[in-house]
Amino acid sequence: MSALVIYFSQTGHTEKAAGIICERAGIQRFRIYPKTPYPTRYDALEARALKEVGDRLLPLLGNNEIDARRFAYIFLGFPIWYGMPAAPVMTFLNRFDWKGRTVFPFITFGGLYGRAFAEMEKILRTGGAAVKDELLLRFPYRKDLNDEEEARIQLMIVQWIEGIKRRYGTNIRK
Ligand SMILES: Cc1cc2nc3c(=O)[nH]c(=O)nc-3n(C[C@H](O)[C@H](O)[C@H](O)COP(=O)(O)O)c2cc1C
Repeated sequence: MSALVIYFSQTGHTEKAAGIICERAGIQRFRIYPKTPYPTRYDALEARALKEVGDRLLPLLGNNEIDARRFAYIFLGFPIWYGMPAAPVMTFLNRFDWKGRTVFPFITFGGLYGRAFAEMEKILRTGGAAVKDELLLRFPYRKDLNDEEEARIQLMIVQWIEGIKRRYGTNIRK
């Protein structure tokens, strides 16, 4: 049984968390990205993201398919956009074969949680996955973490991974 980190990150926070998980658990990563990249300017990014989330659009992805059968455990990371999973994650959630998989979500957000977890969980459970041990990481929007915040987040992630290893066996990467 093997594990994979699957994540989307626009401004780098979720990517940072994904990197720590991969390193700590010794597993590979798969980055979700939209076919049409998001603008780097915040006002333009927010306008497009708000339209996608508000209209429940599922933007096309630039990724190839993953062979889902190879992975029993998925660490799924994404930011919250307007109280929902970021739009490319909604596309991925609706497309991936979740049947029989155990998903450990790690969700980054600035402070307003909304319906993101409930929406994600509904799709995953309907698709036949078990959703376990979600980790919520608070990152300030449009700001880098200071050293103390960075150390705190790192510790939260490491404790989370170690707990998962204890509960699900240390061989999640085999
Ligand atoms: C378009 C957009 C919408 C956002 N909406 C929310 C929100 O509704 N609630 C919240 O807590 N944070 C919100 N944020 C902040 C992000 O969730 C947070 O900064 C996250 O860590 C970003 O992850 P990333 O750097 O991996 O893209 C939003 C950020 C963006 C860019």
